[in-house]
Amino acid sequence: MSSSTTQKTVLAFSRVTPAMVERLRQDFNVIVPDPSLGDINAQFEEALPHAHGLIGVGRKLGRNSLDSAKHLEVVSSVSVGYDNYDVDYFNERGIMLTNTPDVLTESTADLGFTLIMSSARRVAELDAWTKAGEWKASVGPALFGTDVHGKTLGIVGMGNIGAAVARRGRLGFNMPILYSGNSRKTELEQELGAQFRTLDQLLAEADFVCLVVPLSEKTKHLIGERELKLMKKSAILVNISRGPVVDEVALIEALQNNTIRGAGLDVYEKEPLVESPLFALKNAVTLPHIGSATHETREAMANRALDNLRSALLGERPQDLVNPQVFKG
Ligand code: DGY
Repeated sequence: MSSSTTQKTVLAFSRVTPAMVERLRQDFNVIVPDPSLGDINAQFEEALPHAHGLIGVGRKLGRNSLDSAKHLEVVSSVSVGYDNYDVDYFNERGIMLTNTPDVLTESTADLGFTLIMSSARRVAELDAWTKAGEWKASVGPALFGTDVHGKTLGIVGMGNIGAAVARRGRLGFNMPILYSGNSRKTELEQELGAQFRTLDQLLAEADFVCLVVPLSEKTKHLIGERELKLMKKSAILVNISRGPVVDEVALIEALQNNTIRGAGLDVYEKEPLVESPLFALKNAVTLPHIGSATHETREAMANRALDNLRSALLGERPQDLVNPQVFKG
């Protein structure tokens, strides 16, 4: 144990396993809020003024919440998305922010494709129907789904996860790929025959529209009433990015009125989603934000976040530094 690091304190507030806490304890004082000791939020607030590093996910962290964290050097988020953090404020304070890209790409793409398949083939709806003892005669057209193979897949936001969804569609299901976004991806155009479109064109042409953009001021409500009306009546919208990318009220209306065929959703404007008109809609598949929620991927994410945190607190440049301008090296 080096004496220069023993004084640093880490507040580990979520998604960190006991084994990882032990690893952290080799170098740092570690505080883990414990529900059996009372209010988790109060424990978090109480620990903040002592913390040099935070590790976890699922808290909105910005000016109001971090002003008391006078010693804070790094926030290591166990997520690829960092819309929960006020990066401008972090920059102002010189606090490093790290995330966990790459390690969740394939699992999140698997989930995207799961939503495409289950929406198209009505998997969740027909599972509930079968278990309710409704299967008394062979299934007729009223319960038929729609094909996935050979249909056009539109990827909104062709980053790593978007490309991984596109590969599944192109190589596994022979789907023509369209994509929209800020830049052309010539390598993917060559690899997958993907074609660039404006968002409006993509919405009008795709049979499946998969949202994979990060949430920002620019992408908030990117899909609203107007955009939903541009989609084919037979099309399915899949959202594995962030809930606020879609105007949920407009989506619910579109699903109720069959403006589009269906939606496969992993994310919502307000999470956790405990009550919603979506629950009454058979043409909406609703999952509880599980894009990266496999044992293997969550462990890989936590390890990556832990490595980032350690590097930052030991004065090395973390591998996944979101705001490199604050690194003092
Ligand atoms: C992410 O990492 O951003 C995923 O949505 C899981 O939280």
